[in-house]
Amino acid sequence: MPVMRSTKLLSIDAESPDASVIAEAADVLRAGGLVAFPTETVYGLGGNALDAHAVAGIFKAKGRPAGNPLIVHIPNVQAAHTLTDEWPDYAVRLAERFWPGPLTLVVKKNTVVPDIVTAGGPTVALRVPKHKVALALLEASGIPIAAPSANRSSRLSPTSAEHVHRDLHDRIHMILDAGVTPGGLESTVLDMTVSPPRLLRPGLVSAAEIETVVGLVERPHIAVADAPEPLRSPGLLERHYSPRTRIECVAGCGRARVEELARGGSRVGWLSLDEGGVELPGVQRRIMPVEPADYAAQLYGTLHKLDNTGLDCIIVELPPLTEEWLAVHDRLGRM
Ligand code: TXA
Ligand code: MG
Repeated sequence: MPVMRSTKLLSIDAESPDASVIAEAADVLRAGGLVAFPTETVYGLGGNALDAHAVAGIFKAKGRPAGNPLIVHIPNVQAAHTLTDEWPDYAVRLAERFWPGPLTLVVKKNTVVPDIVTAGGPTVALRVPKHKVALALLEASGIPIAAPSANRSSRLSPTSAEHVHRDLHDRIHMILDAGVTPGGLESTVLDMTVSPPRLLRPGLVSAAEIETVVGLVERPHIAVADAPEPLRSPGLLERHYSPRTRIECVAGCGRARVEELARGGSRVGWLSLDEGGVELPGVQRRIMPVEPADYAAQLYGTLHKLDNTGLDCIIVELPPLTEEWLAVHDRLGRM
């Protein structure tokens, strides 16, 4: 891996990435270094997926448990065939419909994929990201890029280069800063090695959208924020997407709980879905969008900001318990 003095931060245009910046980042990746880059979901911490040392560096920089496998990013569906010998018909159709995009497909790995990438398991998670910077980097480097979200393990995923820098500065070689990532929540993870395919992590592509292509999708019991003891998907080892501040999800608008805490002297944040009611002095209220995709786009950014204001607690008004809110509920349920 190249010697690292400090993390190099380079700005890059999200819509027309500068080829010289991409070439520099691709060189770092090919030399075994670590580059954080934007995707359409969140920032990823990339390393050469075919280089076990580089991948070990990813685990180390994040403090990630070795048992939690990484997603491998590829430039197109053809590249999938270099990493797996089993590409089921469902995968053909899903890739056609959703790639590039925020859907990760778990398939049987072949021997090209180092064991460390898959945490020793027989399957590999693949996705073609939609962000122009990510695609340019994949094409310029000519290698598959293993990339978990670019945060310290169990923390909130980063939706800006500043979030990446705060968590990982001087632990990685380079950060490509293309501003805020548009999607804001991590990709949907779907296990293609079982029939019907099984949802391992809900995300920006909904189960209902997937079902329009493959028929039935198996939905394991997904963590819901107000369930007392949520059952987790066994495929998911990463159980926390947490800000440092304590989060409390409440049914109803949350005003009574916010008032109670504020009266007791707590410094309170409040993610609220409706603008009604008088403002509460001293309470950091944020009005969240009522559309699930817009809410998802803003959730982590809002929590990152509140996390830096020294609050004792953040009260979250739970969105409706409907399927279109599944990914948001899943993340709130893990905080
Ligand atoms: O949107 C995203 O998916 C972002 C961007 C950077 O692409 N990446 C991301 O990676 O969220 P990470 O590592 O934070 O989350 C990957 C999830 C983990 O929950 C992991 O357990 C699961 O995918 N995963 C990876 N490989 C798997 C496999 N072979 N079988 C089952 N689950 C797997
Ligand atoms: Mg992550």
